[in-house]
Amino acid sequence: MTSLIKNKKQNTILVSKHTVETSIGNDIQLSADLLKQSELVAIPTETVYGLAANALDAMAVTKIFEAKNRPFFDPLIVHIHSIQQLNELVLDIPPQLLLLAQKFWPGALTILLPKKNIIPEVVTAGLPNVGIRIPNQALTLSLLQQINFPLAAPSANPFSYVSPTTAAHVYQQLQGKIPYILDGGKCSVGIESTIVGMHNNQASVFRLGGISIEEIEGVIGKVNLNIQKNENPNAPGMLSLHYAPHKTMIIGNIKENIKKYATQQIGVISFKDHYSEINPHHCKVLSPQGNLNEAAQNLFAAMRTLDQSTVDIILTEKFPEMGLGPAINDRLQRASYKNNSLNNNS
Ligand code: TXA
Ligand code: MG
Repeated sequence: MTSLIKNKKQNTILVSKHTVETSIGNDIQLSADLLKQSELVAIPTETVYGLAANALDAMAVTKIFEAKNRPFFDPLIVHIHSIQQLNELVLDIPPQLLLLAQKFWPGALTILLPKKNIIPEVVTAGLPNVGIRIPNQALTLSLLQQINFPLAAPSANPFSYVSPTTAAHVYQQLQGKIPYILDGGKCSVGIESTIVGMHNNQASVFRLGGISIEEIEGVIGKVNLNIQKNENPNAPGMLSLHYAPHKTMIIGNIKENIKKYATQQIGVISFKDHYSEINPHHCKVLSPQGNLNEAAQNLFAAMRTLDQSTVDIILTEKFPEMGLGPAINDRLQRASYKNNSLNNNS
């Protein structure tokens, strides 16, 4: 099955199951045309890049799972451009969750809501709820306004690898598998959205992310934390080994671990301290000023760069437990799951 799509300017993009030439650009019209033809387009969001397909088209959505090597039990997040679109997609929105949507959308918050039949089962892995958010990214919002359907989009990385925060990251890993990457520059938040929903009639957080617990509790009061840490998650996708670089990652006191692992070539991901004993190319200080938002923005790029470098191991540390700190620690723990004991004590 092969189709030809003409770019407004001059490119012709060949789309087939086996050979795909991947282009990068900021052509919203081309992105819309591809999506309307049930093709995949990588889209920028403020959190991470997503791999998008028409959320109402089961065949198109299936291609996401193929391109990512993602198991079908792991549900996808659906992206919309306005709260009004919810009526078409969900049966109901509990008042507390509506308050959160009104406060944080567009933004890094995904809300789990009871889905209508219009959303194919493949999107939610057969679950009754669908995760929905309005991303805060100008290009993607224009794209969503231009097409008349929502976009299902998981992070645009092969399953269980580090999420992409630039178009180049997406290209590195999905080149040849998708026709187009809409380039919106570097993601401003840098970690995935916070996921909230109802559990036993109480608002609960299922994934830590770009909106902090303090911000959420500032709107609706105390929330339950329902973060899955083991290998048998209730919420599919919250697997322990996630966001993982291929290199061994160790969380702990960096200074001590530099001595302990002195025989190996070491990379460092630190919050704000520089370690002069480490090759400066291999020492990634996420925020010299100690700003957790800046640290989150730089986290995945640092993991990716060190993973692709010559280092043997990556040493990192526990970040402060405030603001986006817990969400950063969650990523670090999952990325280092095989190698250390922090998994039990946060
Ligand atoms: O920031 C984000 O959320 C990014 C951007 C692209 O929007 N997307 C993202 O998607 O992180 P993904 O697929 O990498 O993570 C989606 C996770 C699933 O693995 C699952 O844990 C949870 O969201 N999820 C999605 N739909 C769900 C549902 N219906 N019930 C329970 N969990 C759900
Ligand atoms: Mg992901």
